[in-house]
Amino acid sequence: MTVKTAVVTGASKGIGLAVTRALEEDGFKVVGAARTITPELKEAASLTVSVDLSTPEGPAELIRQAQEGVGAIDVLVNNVGAFSPRTSGFAAIDDAEWQSTFELNFFGVVRTIRAALPQLIERQGAIVNVSSARARGPQPPTVDYGAAKAALTNFSKALSMELGPKGVRVNTVSPGPTRTPAWLDSDGFGAGLAAASGKSLEEFLEGFPAAAGLTTGRLTEPEEVAEVVRMLANGRTRALNGADLVVDGGQLKTV
Ligand SMILES: NC(=O)c1ccc[n+]([C@@H]2O[C@H](COP(=O)([O-])OP(=O)(O)OC[C@H]3O[C@@H](n4cnc5c(N)ncnc54)[C@H](OP(=O)(O)O)[C@@H]3O)[C@@H](O)[C@H]2O)c1
Repeated sequence: MTVKTAVVTGASKGIGLAVTRALEEDGFKVVGAARTITPELKEAASLTVSVDLSTPEGPAELIRQAQEGVGAIDVLVNNVGAFSPRTSGFAAIDDAEWQSTFELNFFGVVRTIRAALPQLIERQGAIVNVSSARARGPQPPTVDYGAAKAALTNFSKALSMELGPKGVRVNTVSPGPTRTPAWLDSDGFGAGLAAASGKSLEEFLEGFPAAAGLTTGRLTEPEEVAEVVRMLANGRTRALNGADLVVDGGQLKTV
């Protein structure tokens, strides 16, 4: 049996690390990319690539190294993304901040797909873009990030229509608040929201699921998001094409 290959971006921690582990478990040779190669990623992935995906040249360099290392790519998981707490309102976000939000969350994905496309078509592969529940349910503290993720979800749908007939499936997974370093680190997004509300991070996280309307009453675990990515990647549900699967603990209240 031919070994399948996958590239996972933003793989050093959080959701990307969980996806890397899940795909390796399923027999994929995973190339895990991030700026920092953590010991956990080194252990989980078949190959690691240190790369800044917010630069115009980073994505093509990643795909070049991946192909050189493991061969043509069957599955591309564009998981990389970042969100900063915008607690001072829209007017406080300058052009450079808007630009950097879009460079990483949107253009980085566009460029990575462009670089990998010939291989994905050759292998009749799959693209999974990790978007966000904020693409459908905007909120002021993520105003720029939500806009970039909405662009990503919209782009993914159009791309699925072009690439479906060429044998490549394109889907998005849209997590809601998920227990990753973005929420747990002392300098992360959660800490920023906590500071703005005058609470300690611990206090803030305790009250957050109820305040945010999470039906599950808790943050989602990265492994739960990874399970959905695994399903989209493994090709057993080929009818899923152009779908946006929301994994948000029931936070979105619309159908
Ligand atoms: N956690 C949530 O609540 C949540 C909710 C909705 C959507 N999401 C989305 O899910 C995805 C993963 O989120 P997460 O919470 O797991 O994030 P995370 O824990 O902050 O991890 C982000 C990953 O991206 C890498 N990364 C960041 N900037 C990069 C850059 N310029 N170039 C290359 N790699 C970079 C990080 O490694 P380095 O810093 O070493 O580069 C890390 O591996 C993102 O797209 C995020 O927007 C998350």
